Amino acid sequence: MSFNAPLSETHADEIAARLAYARPADVLDIGCGWGELMLRVLDRAPEATGLGVDTDDDLLGRGRAAAEQRGLSERAVFANTAGAAVDQQADLVICVGASHAFGGNAAALASLMRHVRPGGRLFYGDGLWDPSFQPPRPELVWADFFELPDIARLVDLAVATGYLPLYTETASPAELDDFESRYLADDEEWLLRRPRHPRAPEVRAAAEDHRRRWLHGYRGGFGFAYLTLGRPAE
Ligand SMILES: C[S@@+](CC[C@H](N)C(=O)[O-])C[C@H]1O[C@@H](n2cnc3c(N)ncnc32)[C@H](O)[C@@H]1O
Repeated sequence: MSFNAPLSETHADEIAARLAYARPADVLDIGCGWGELMLRVLDRAPEATGLGVDTDDDLLGRGRAAAEQRGLSERAVFANTAGAAVDQQADLVICVGASHAFGGNAAALASLMRHVRPGGRLFYGDGLWDPSFQPPRPELVWADFFELPDIARLVDLAVATGYLPLYTETASPAELDDFESRYLADDEEWLLRRPRHPRAPEVRAAAEDHRRRWLHGYRGGFGFAYLTLGRPAE
């Protein structure tokens, strides 16, 4: 997976180009995983420095290796820090799929505002739920998906928090399918090669459970928002 979110290569490059066009001096990626989006912005903003924080050392290590490979290690730092413990500000803050680090959308949008330098931007990605969608088997949908906002409610929340919505977009159905398929691919490929491994029944059961929830439960109802939000200058 290039991203731990439903985001295609082309879409990520478009977003990175748009974010770099605003010429941020610094980028702060909270819940960065391996920080691929931050690295793509740094690639396009040669003066900018980046700090990616996450609580998973393996993912941070992958980020450091990618930065090294692309000649970005002088400008990109990866630190094991919990989102709520960050105290820096930056011209561009990225937070994709990590609102839980703050306790949900409302708390995340409010906390992240403090990290965006006035006049700067937040690139915010998080889950959506289409309230008009009738799941074929509602019992298979993760219960917290029903709590997710639709795109209108999420943007309204961002505006009520004090942001200007500069660009509103969502993951396409193809990006969502691709994300689920890639998520399952590790296990499915492993099973292809080791069908009689002692752990195979357990791995197969976990993959089947996930695939059933996706295809019979939330596919068509679950979505993902990408919002570029501005913090007005003071
Ligand atoms: C869905 S992944 C998204 C990763 C990355 N933003 C991306 O789009 O590829 C969520 C990330 O949040 C991180 N995370 C979870 N709890 C956190 C916390 N309290 N503080 C910082 N990061 C956290 C996880 O380790 C994981 O890398």
